[in-house]
Amino acid sequence: MRGYDDRSYGDGFADVYDDWYADITDVDATTAALSHLAAGGAVLELGVGTGRLALPLAAAGVEVHGVDSSAAMLDRLRSKPDGHTVHATVADMVEGLPPGPFSLVFVAYNTFFSLLTQARQQACLHAVAARLRAGGVFAIEAFVPEVDASPTSSVSVRSVAADRVVLSVSTADPERQLAEGQYVDITETGGVRLRPWSIRWATPAQLDEMAAEAGLRLTDRWSGFDRAPFGPDSARHVSVYRQE
Ligand SMILES: C[S@@+](CC[C@H](N)C(=O)[O-])C[C@H]1O[C@@H](n2cnc3c(N)ncnc32)[C@H](O)[C@@H]1O
Repeated sequence: MRGYDDRSYGDGFADVYDDWYADITDVDATTAALSHLAAGGAVLELGVGTGRLALPLAAAGVEVHGVDSSAAMLDRLRSKPDGHTVHATVADMVEGLPPGPFSLVFVAYNTFFSLLTQARQQACLHAVAARLRAGGVFAIEAFVPEVDASPTSSVSVRSVAADRVVLSVSTADPERQLAEGQYVDITETGGVRLRPWSIRWATPAQLDEMAAEAGLRLTDRWSGFDRAPFGPDSARHVSVYRQE
């Protein structure tokens, strides 16, 4: 998308993120699974955002670090009463990871797909592997892409109120594994606000291949952080890789 960069998503969604996405996944189940994977060690979240997951994880007694490319998202995190409990820095999840070592690095809710090329995704996995302590784990949560899908473009309604309409406009190019879109947020008083997003998706098998290239071996695959079994009909997956 012309004009889109690593800060565009966070800067475009920071003011609505907690209202729109507080409940997109089960935070309690995620916190429990991540605490278990961390096994008492330090944790790094890639794309930590407003702290939807990092804050409850820190409240559970885990040492949590986070990076995010958007200062606007981290401002939201830091403005929360317990915001200081997460060690958060404005940094790119490929080039700017703190040194660690970490027992667990995780990336939730499709955030890994914010890296828009296969090369950037591969480089991120190398950077992660270099920050894990011996035997440390990397966990990724993402959707399972449809195979053999056709190119699509769609406009749908996210919400309608007397003084506000939010439309969702998106396109997908399965051959290039790319999708992008805008939430078009229209209010009488504020005019039009555009909230853009862009992703490059990967299949679980492609993730396994990139992870293996970085020295990370798949140990578990669930359909979610509730650790329910993954199967052919699963729409989402949580994949856990261990440093070899
Ligand atoms: C969908 S939000 C997820 C936030 C949080 N992890 C959660 O689950 O609610 C994706 C986050 O990734 C950040 N992000 C996107 N590209 C990034 C990059 N290259 N490096 C670091 N953070 C990035 C965005 O700014 C945004 O805060």
